[in-house]
Amino acid sequence: MTAPDQYAVFGDPISHSKSPKIHQLFAEQTQQLVQYTAQLVPAEQFTVAADIFFAQGGKGLNCTIPLKELAWAYAQHKTRRAQLSGAVNTLALQDDGSVLGENTDGVGLITDLINNHGISLQNRRILILGAGGASRGIIEPILSQAPRQLLIANRTVDKAVELAKIFSVVGEVDSCGYTDLCGEQFDVIINATSTSLSGQLPPLPGNVLAKNSCCYDLAYSNQPTAFVYWGLAHGAEKSLDGLGMLVEQAAEAFYLWRKLRPATAAVIALMNAQRG
Ligand code: ATR
Repeated sequence: MTAPDQYAVFGDPISHSKSPKIHQLFAEQTQQLVQYTAQLVPAEQFTVAADIFFAQGGKGLNCTIPLKELAWAYAQHKTRRAQLSGAVNTLALQDDGSVLGENTDGVGLITDLINNHGISLQNRRILILGAGGASRGIIEPILSQAPRQLLIANRTVDKAVELAKIFSVVGEVDSCGYTDLCGEQFDVIINATSTSLSGQLPPLPGNVLAKNSCCYDLAYSNQPTAFVYWGLAHGAEKSLDGLGMLVEQAAEAFYLWRKLRPATAAVIALMNAQRG
């Protein structure tokens, strides 16, 4: 009997991860012989754990908090998107034995917005909150959608300025602090800060949402996040969390590994039904 190809997600913490379930559903749907596990890997053990994984025949890894920058450094080759973002969430063993790094987070976000929610970013005013690793992964894919404006706001303004500078080779990105947002309005506001993990909110003024606007929290949990509630309370037409993005970024990773694109709608519906 043929043994299944091995894949895994590494992270710390990892017990909450929905990725094994999502990839199992993809494998069943596409009839692929795949085993996908979740492994608790602290940052200081990442390189050794990844070496062992690939030495034992592993075909691909997903890397989540706090390992994305380490995975970036680990990858021997990177796509241009991953190279720019400084963070890698997908490692794929290549035929020549080398490891390719990709970041599928941003494509996952765009696919969820456009395909699942009918929200285009083209010619829209986009505000990203936060200038950490999560923001870095989504900026280039957002710029590829030709927005009218892309502004990064961050508590530590210097970090937003730095990110805008890095991505200026791709397109126009502005940066600011939260107090500078007074009087400005946006069509899509994306929360890429870590505030939702602790039930907090970025210090946003209340009147930054344009008519028919959308709020999107990259985080997700069984209950709506504080930012999803904030969007609803301030008149957003849609206020979404990152569950759809999670499934779409996984589909993108599955495609990179198996060259097969799984259908995502039924998987998202099932993951939604299993909340709480
Ligand atoms: P990640 O990899 O999840 O992006 P990170 O690199 O630590 O994590 O970045 C966290 C982001 O959330 C940062 O933009 C951080 O702002 P600072 O750069 O000023 O630290 C932002 N953040 C965290 N807590 C916040 C809070 N209470 N209010 C506003 N922004 C916050």
